[in-house]
Amino acid sequence: MTTSTVYLNGQYLPAEQACVPVMDRGFLLGDGIYEVIPVYGGRPFRLSQHLRRLRNSLHEIRLELDYSDEQWTEILDRLISCHDSTDLSVYLQVTRGSAAKRDHSFPNHIKPTVFVMVSPMPAHNPELSYKGVHAVLLDDIRWQRCDIKAITLLANVLLRQRANDRGAQEAILVRDGLALEGAASNLFVVDGNTLVTAPKSRHLLPGITRDLVIELAPEAGLSVIESNIAAQALPDYDEIWLTSSTKEIMAVTRLDDMTISNGKPGPVWKKMMQVYQDFKRALSQGTQA
Ligand code: PDD
Repeated sequence: MTTSTVYLNGQYLPAEQACVPVMDRGFLLGDGIYEVIPVYGGRPFRLSQHLRRLRNSLHEIRLELDYSDEQWTEILDRLISCHDSTDLSVYLQVTRGSAAKRDHSFPNHIKPTVFVMVSPMPAHNPELSYKGVHAVLLDDIRWQRCDIKAITLLANVLLRQRANDRGAQEAILVRDGLALEGAASNLFVVDGNTLVTAPKSRHLLPGITRDLVIELAPEAGLSVIESNIAAQALPDYDEIWLTSSTKEIMAVTRLDDMTISNGKPGPVWKKMMQVYQDFKRALSQGTQA
């Protein structure tokens, strides 16, 4: 087995030797935040946007960490250089650290735990391109601060598993009648040449892929509206998409027991995917930031 090198609190070491104390508040209380950053052609995708969201999550949970963008870049570059493959996925986690005793209140003077690992990007399943995915609608049982990329993911885990148990790949989460996002993805619907996605709020994660799709939409000849999406109206749209850093743009072709866009990824998805792949290629070749 080849062991990968990880970063833990200033050290680079083989994954099996990287240990976090059992008193770590991430382990005991889920008190921490994370990021997932794709890497194409050895270059982290939308790094400054991911680092901005990381800083925002840290700020929202009142965790002070003095890592500069340059330091993060150095850590990522070093871990990326340990791999032969150049299409990778970075997982980065910061917890409030270890204290002498378990206590909900913030302890004084503890050092955050900083952990980064880089893994090969899971191979793209070609079936997704011609079949799309099956999603189910589920009540959003998460908390009121889904804008924070918190490691406390139990609700998301249970929701995704409930979707899997029903033979679906993702859950679309519904709060007060509104379809907000997936258990680990953002939601778009297509109405003619217009994309609709829920506005940013405390009820959904401000996805980096979501922002990129909005940015690239005009190149695909599409306009975008950020507006609430009624869960009931979902089957009436031409297409439904889910976006995330690791899954890119997935077309939903079955929702609960209903067929969406004739059971195949639609023409608007195809156009958008083309623009998205061109953008990725430019990034891999170093002509795009
Ligand atoms: N999750 N919404 C939720 C709840 C998510 O967990 C994610 C991503 C997204 C999409 O965000 P982005 O485009 O920045 O990846 C939206 C990651 C991939 C994860 O938890 O593994």
